[in-house]
Amino acid sequence: MITFDKATQVFHLKNDRYSYVIQIERGKYLLHQYFGRPLHEFRGSALRPALDRANSPQPAAYENERTFSLDVVPQELSTNGHGDFRIPSLEVVLEDGTTVIELWYEGYEIKKGKPALEGLPALYAKDDEAETLEITLSDTKGRMKAILSYTVFEGDGVLTRSVRYVNTCKEAIRLENAASLSLDFPDHDFDRMSLYGGHASERNLERIRLMRGVMETGNTRGASSHQQSPFLALARPAAGELSGDVYGFSLVYSGSFRMATEVEQFGTTRVVIGINPDDFAWTLEPGESFQTPEVVISYSHDGLNGMSQAFHKAYRNHLLRGKYQHRVRPILVNNWEATYFDFDDEKLDNLAACAADLGMELMVLDDGWFGHRNDDNSSLGDWKVNLKKLPHGLEGVAESAHKRGLKFGLWFEPEMISVDSDLYRAHPDWALHVKDYPCSFGRHQLVLDVSRKDVQDYIVKSVSDILASGAIDYVKWDFNRHLTEAFSEGRAPEHQRETKHRFILGLYSVLERITQAFPDVLFESCSGGGGRFDAAMLYYMPQTWTSDDTDAVQRQRIQTGTSYAFPPITMGAHVSVTPNHQVGRVTPMQTRAFCAMMGCFGYEMDITRMSDAEKQQVRDHIALYKRLRPTIQLGTYTRLLSPFEGTKNETAWMFTSEDEKEVALFYFHDPDSTGAETLVGKTFYGDELMQEGINIDKINSDFTGYLWVLEKVG
Ligand code: GLA
Repeated sequence: MITFDKATQVFHLKNDRYSYVIQIERGKYLLHQYFGRPLHEFRGSALRPALDRANSPQPAAYENERTFSLDVVPQELSTNGHGDFRIPSLEVVLEDGTTVIELWYEGYEIKKGKPALEGLPALYAKDDEAETLEITLSDTKGRMKAILSYTVFEGDGVLTRSVRYVNTCKEAIRLENAASLSLDFPDHDFDRMSLYGGHASERNLERIRLMRGVMETGNTRGASSHQQSPFLALARPAAGELSGDVYGFSLVYSGSFRMATEVEQFGTTRVVIGINPDDFAWTLEPGESFQTPEVVISYSHDGLNGMSQAFHKAYRNHLLRGKYQHRVRPILVNNWEATYFDFDDEKLDNLAACAADLGMELMVLDDGWFGHRNDDNSSLGDWKVNLKKLPHGLEGVAESAHKRGLKFGLWFEPEMISVDSDLYRAHPDWALHVKDYPCSFGRHQLVLDVSRKDVQDYIVKSVSDILASGAIDYVKWDFNRHLTEAFSEGRAPEHQRETKHRFILGLYSVLERITQAFPDVLFESCSGGGGRFDAAMLYYMPQTWTSDDTDAVQRQRIQTGTSYAFPPITMGAHVSVTPNHQVGRVTPMQTRAFCAMMGCFGYEMDITRMSDAEKQQVRDHIALYKRLRPTIQLGTYTRLLSPFEGTKNETAWMFTSEDEKEVALFYFHDPDSTGAETLVGKTFYGDELMQEGINIDKINSDFTGYLWVLEKVG
């Protein structure tokens, strides 16, 4: 998969999906020469001619070679001290205040499998599933090294990249930008695709022409965020869902990030991805190293679905872990929109009885079970059950679910602290804060300083104490505000700007400890809905609550947007009441159910108050979902009609079972389109379905959802 040709100095990273070619130039510089469909061998037929470019400087050794400039060549790691004026992927400040270093090629190693990244989640692979190339660049004055890692996965359209920076001198080096990836494309004939949104409207697709100059997607919120997702795609303008070249990038990181593109003077495109340098600095003491997060790159010749399916396969096989990695997920009922904070033993018992009767499999007790929390003003940090509200303790509620054959799940928000809490009264310094200014609030709460070891230990202990009872089968791990005044008491001044990244590293350490200690518990990550839907969280928790917005029309956009990078088995999707609590829209129960069937299905409403007819409908939907669940969660997902395209307000999703014997086809339309189904009981040849499709006519009501289940016969 990875070869090095000594004569041409070419590293060829190759599988049956792509070739990625790196060439050592003049024994010093690491050039990026090709990325695209697999090549038999790289010989440089299309290399750009070396031209004398005004204003593009020569490195000292090549003063008289005016056709050679770092400003022009495509590079694998970029610094801007020696005349490359494009966005750098590494910026340092040395002890004397200067910012220039010179990294030249030193050597390489090819390893079987994929080494883990220290302290960070990343894709993993067995020795026979992947190969990793590590290329070391070294500063000509011996100050630092950069070790670039590339992993090629056998048979998958993905490649991973990350960098480890090492201080090899006697003075501290300050990293002001330590990106994970720099990648240069020879042209800019691309559309730029990113996912934008907000609370309750996450991951809308934006597809625009890649423009000259710098364009950035990212944030400084200390979270991967609702607002921008750590996803970027460059698609050839003609590329659609089913054909065309697409390069997708997904950053395995949950904090502030930046995905920048620069189209420069000669029309080439540079992509730089990593921790957001506007929100970061890191002082590397002598001998220390800094590991960047990993970028997963997906190359597809088969359009956007090809890109997404490569991400989905890689994430299902090489990112998700634990008992539930390849298992269908339980159908749940969550009490949040049913009761909010207003619940007691009796209400929960009724909910459990009804859930069991309807065929559900897991009951989740959401916010409000601990401290004296009856609204969102208090008690975060005090993870002890409120016995006034639940006199039989969590064991009592769990027992009421368990005795009916349901699993029992519980909500936590462990990275937070309320000022009105015993924890804050004991440790006010545990909240992120600065000395001279008051703290900003979000939802009346502060954020714990998870960069501190004592805070990490407290979180691990307080959550573990609850889970140790064995009564909890599922955890919803929430995170409901972003980071402000993100500094840490007692940390040395030169290390203060590390706090946000150290927070994320602390979170990963906490999650690793808890999830490894409780391997039978199913964890679902949440952040005011889908504010931390990223690959890093999925490494610890194999599903994420996709959005607080459960309206079936909005959810078509949110779930379709999410599907560009993430597989359906990672998306929590629930049926809720109408009028919808977030947007007030009224939609048919069947549309809500079909829409929620796209992911990890559940209900988030007071099911005890439904009429008998509605209950029967729910029973039928649950039975149908149980039947289709392996196809939806473990099969292949294809976007047929995207709500972000066209003018007809249509969405269609297709799920194909692993054995390709069953297809579930969902179709939704909004007010101004029409349709109905006419296929029931008929048999067609596959070629007709492929070439002609199916006709939909006569829809008489708004917001209708349809499902066709196609079975292979003969
Ligand atoms: C967040 C979550 C919701 C719910 C509430 C509880 O908003 O996204 O699902 O858990 O918190 O406070």
